[in-house]
Parts: sequence; structure tokens; C-alpha cells
Amino acid sequence: MSVTSVRDRLSLVHSPEFTWPGGFERIPDDDWTRQPVDQFGLNYDTVGGHGWYKNLEPTIAQVLAALEPGKVLIDYSSGTGILTRRLLEKINYSVGLLNVDASTKFLRVALESFRDDERVAFRLLRWLKQEKRLERLDEVASPATFTPGADILTSTNAIHLYYNLDETLASWASVLRPGGLAFICSGNMQNQHSPAGNWIIDDTVAKVNEIAADVVAREPAFEEYRATLENSALMAKHGKLRDKVFVPVRPLDFYVKAFEEAGFTVLHVFDQTITARIDEWYQLLSTYNEGVLSWVGGSEKVEGGPPSNAAVRDRLFLIRYSLDKLFPGRDSFPCAWSYLTCRR
Ligand SMILES: C[S@@+](CC[C@H](N)C(=O)[O-])C[C@H]1O[C@@H](n2cnc3c(N)ncnc32)[C@H](O)[C@@H]1O
Repeated sequence: MSVTSVRDRLSLVHSPEFTWPGGFERIPDDDWTRQPVDQFGLNYDTVGGHGWYKNLEPTIAQVLAALEPGKVLIDYSSGTGILTRRLLEKINYSVGLLNVDASTKFLRVALESFRDDERVAFRLLRWLKQEKRLERLDEVASPATFTPGADILTSTNAIHLYYNLDETLASWASVLRPGGLAFICSGNMQNQHSPAGNWIIDDTVAKVNEIAADVVAREPAFEEYRATLENSALMAKHGKLRDKVFVPVRPLDFYVKAFEEAGFTVLHVFDQTITARIDEWYQLLSTYNEGVLSWVGGSEKVEGGPPSNAAVRDRLFLIRYSLDKLFPGRDSFPCAWSYLTCRR
């Protein structure tokens, strides 16, 4: 995927332009907007074409039913803008879509895709070093901007990553108008209603680690990684790094309760089985190979130095091999996706 191909994919329905409120800069005058487009971000953007990204379809249907002309939707944790692209393919009236994300690498790809589309705006949630927290939504899009508040907020494939959920939901409540809707989806919630046999998609990463550890312990070709594997203190550090990328799963009820405590009414909760193809899931895990198997070859964040190219090749081999071992003779596996509809 290249910058040109990101632009070429945009065959969006023509629609009247949207007028953002006076004083609200659609593209802020920030350094990140002038940075080159990052390959890691472009790699994530290709995931939008994966079969398991059908997970967005229920949210898209909800937005199309609820978003009226002239209204504002905030896509919180918008990533590279995959949801925005899919919405703009379907919406032929004037709306404002504010993409908010914590990653300059991802947001920069979204800017590349939608820079010339007046309907799309961008805000970065900066990491405030001294306060050890991310900026809140109300700090980057003040509640006064969209009087009487934004109409819809979406958060797709991201809520499980929020380390400070209560504060995040409180900031959503302050920016949404009374009666405004939040549409949430995640494949990383423990949902007691989903059919037996469905995977929590990130749980495959722990299994890949188990299988890879077994291979490294047995096969002479991977001998060089055994010292780390046998060092439990070092492995614990790599485990922590993994947990930052593929965070431990929380139960659905934890989210329902957090929304209620933030003043939302949880209107509807449902789940959907989403099929993930193994080759596509491998592609995603390759992009995040450091988060999956950092102990193979080491990591800047743990050992202080990057892995060699050969070690990264071994990682990728071990990830692919382990997925094939985990799902022998299969080309896909079923996953559980959960959806929450909440009213402010
Ligand atoms: C798996 S991506 C999903 C992106 C997009 N919503 C989609 O469905 O394609 C998760 C996104 O959450 C963002 N993110 C991670 N931690 C976050 C946090 N604590 N608060 C807000 N966003 C966060 C990341 O930058 C990333 O863009």
C-alpha cells in the first residue's frame, strides 16, 4: 500500500460541502499534519480490506439510520479513517465527520485520504507527559464548538484499549448533545452471549506465543532465542509489552456499567460472529510483530536495541507457523464481536 493508492481508492459519492462551526479549524496547524505519511499507518489501512473488517457493518448501518443532514459525527479512535471512508461511500448529503485519534501515524494516513474533503476534520489526542495521560476529547474539541453538542460518536475496535475508561466516557458525555448516540464495537470483550467456539480475536496471540515457545525450545534453527525464553524476568518484561498492544480482555458488563456511570443509557447490546481469514489475521499480526513475539530477537523497549532483520524474519515465520498449528487445515476462524448502543 502506498500513498498514491490510498488516494486512488477514493471514489466517494459527491455531496454538498459541510460548514464547520466558525473558528473550528478542520485541519489544525500542527506539526503532525506536515509529517510524511508513515508506512506502519499505511499497513494498518490495508486491514480495512480484510474480511474480518465486516465488523464495521453493523455500526455503519446504525450511523446511516441515525445521522441526519447537517449533523456532526465524532469517530473517536478513528485510526486511519477506515470507517470514514466507508461512510462517505454511502452518504450523499452534507455531514461533518471529525476523526479523533491518539496516533499521529494513523491520523496522518486519514489526513492523506480526506485532506480535500470538507466534510472531514481531524484532531490528535496528545500524550501529556507530565500528567501521564492522553488529552481528553473535550480538550481537543471543546463542548462549546458544536452547540448543543455532537450528534453521534463512534468508537470501533478501540474501546478495549482505553486504560482510563471512566475519564474517556465522561469526556464523550460532555461533547455529545443530550440524546446524542454512541455506537461502540469491539472484538475484545468477554461476551457471555456469543456462541461457544467463537474466538476473542486477540486471544490467538497468547496461543501463538505458546506454540512459538514450544518450537523455539525444540528446534535447533531457533536456538539463539532460547536464552531469553529461559529467562523468566526478561520474558515477564516481554509479556508486559505484549499486554500493551494486545490488552487483557475485560467483560462486557464492565463496559455497560462504565457507560451507565458516565450518565449514558445503554439502549442495546448485541453480538455478531465475524469470520477472520487466517492469512489476513497473519497480515495484521505481522504489522504488530513486535507486540506479538518481541522476545524473538528482542526489542528496543526491553533490551534497548532493535531486533536484527533475520530475527524479524524468524518472528514472522513463527507467527505464521503457529497460526497454522492453531487452526490446522482451516483457512478461517469465527470471532465474537460485541456492539453497544448508548444514549447520552
Ligand atoms: C485497532 S485501531 C482501530 C481504528 C479504527 N477505529 C478502525 O476500526 O479501523 C485502534 C485505535 O485506537 C487508538 N487508541 C489506542 N489507545 C487509545 C486510547 N487510550 N485512547 C484513544 N484512542 C486510542 C489507536 O491509535 C488506533 O487508532
